[in-house]
Amino acid sequence: MNASSPTAPIIVKAPDSSSKINIAHEINRYETPLADAVINLSHELSNSFHALPITGGSSLEGSLLKNKYDEIFGMQMLRSEMTITGTYFDSFFFGNKVISEAENLAAKLYGADGTLFVTTGTTVSNQIAIDALCERNMRVLLDKSCHQSMHFALRQHGAVVDHLLPIWRCEKSGKNIWSLNDLLTLILNAQHAGAPYELIVLNAHSYDGMVYDLPQIIAYLLQNGAATRTFLIDEAWGAANYFQKDLKSLTAMRARFLFKDHPQLKIVATQSAHKSLSCLRQASMIHYCGDTELGARLKLSRFKFHTTSPSYPILASLDLARAQMQEEGEALLIRASTLSTYFCQEIKNLWHMTDNLINETMPPANPFVYAHSDPTKVSINVDDLGISAYDVKDKLFLNHGIYVNRITDTSLLFNFHIGITAGATENLLRALQDIGLASEQWPSFANSENFIISYPPGVPIIVPGDAITPEIQKYIRKMKRSGAHVFYA
Ligand SMILES: Cc1ncc(COP(=O)(O)O)c(C=O)c1O
Repeated sequence: MNASSPTAPIIVKAPDSSSKINIAHEINRYETPLADAVINLSHELSNSFHALPITGGSSLEGSLLKNKYDEIFGMQMLRSEMTITGTYFDSFFFGNKVISEAENLAAKLYGADGTLFVTTGTTVSNQIAIDALCERNMRVLLDKSCHQSMHFALRQHGAVVDHLLPIWRCEKSGKNIWSLNDLLTLILNAQHAGAPYELIVLNAHSYDGMVYDLPQIIAYLLQNGAATRTFLIDEAWGAANYFQKDLKSLTAMRARFLFKDHPQLKIVATQSAHKSLSCLRQASMIHYCGDTELGARLKLSRFKFHTTSPSYPILASLDLARAQMQEEGEALLIRASTLSTYFCQEIKNLWHMTDNLINETMPPANPFVYAHSDPTKVSINVDDLGISAYDVKDKLFLNHGIYVNRITDTSLLFNFHIGITAGATENLLRALQDIGLASEQWPSFANSENFIISYPPGVPIIVPGDAITPEIQKYIRKMKRSGAHVFYA
């Protein structure tokens, strides 16, 4: 296979922000009350006679392990790993100073009535939300593709759960979609049977980039007679969508326009901030739209389930990431989409394959108008390359230090999140070019001079003189992947 040479690195420019700068606005732009308080405290604190000996690396003085701590955490980070509560900082559970200020800024940015920070991951955010919304024996409709945390929490709370199942699955990429008609039918049937769902739990955004139009879905359900008024939406993968021009209108908090006609609505969304924003791992947010009682219930549930030792570095990262998205989010998401589009074009050139290379994001003649695909999640099909997706994954990591997570037998998923730069995209293209060049090369349609025999069973696939058609090539690769030995004799 003859791949084209790497192109010059692309530069994706953030939109020009130099014109008409309002100085006062500029100063306030990157307002980060919580992160500032953590920085100040880390300077003020010399010794703590409370707990957390690791603060500032104190307990490591003289230890031979100090260098390793430094390598992994950095002494600077250990300065913000501290525990100071109350008047000098804020109360995590019942804050009224910098933590609640930072949460209010996040709520404003996300268009929520309130936001709760969580430093133990969205697994716990989901447990908190279920605890706040669900009572024993409550009838709940759960999207089966939801994360395990929803399933376990509902079971633990004694909910009576029905499942919404997917209707379409793309065999190559593994993506699936559920049907809005199925959802409505389940809801109406339950109502007719006298056992309506009091809570509906949906996954808004799959890892592989299936994004549901939550405002339109909820509006459709309400218009068509659904009596449910409480919705819990897992937006674990969608915190950055609020800044992506094509996806922001699909996000859960955008459904707030429905409150005018449906004031009893309660919409809660959980987000793994660390999955798509510049946050430390386990940084999570719970946003809600609804009355103050809903906010109070969520806070009480957080008090019950959250660790009583929230992480200050994680809290600070939530505040900083919110400020970053507020000011730079749109530019970052433009860059992500531009790079993923560029990648799709270039990989087709590199591998000389235009058909079947980028997996379809939707079924043909897409009937699922309420489901969209995230342009920053690219699934490529390596079936025609003569190498399995597992091998490509291994080669990317072992030879090039590039990690991908999601693969199927034939496909790999590349997530162009906001940390992917033009340089990283070029590195990926170069690595894929190497892998493509190293993969088996077939003279298309040439007549074979040899036997090609697969063992078992030991029967020739090709005898001398036969044409090696693309179908035969594909068959041979399939045999190899299935573990057969293919001999050329
Ligand atoms: C849809 C979904 N919800 C929730 C979670 C849990 O998030 P966390 O790992 O932050 O606990 C995940 C994790 O991958 C997820 O994919």
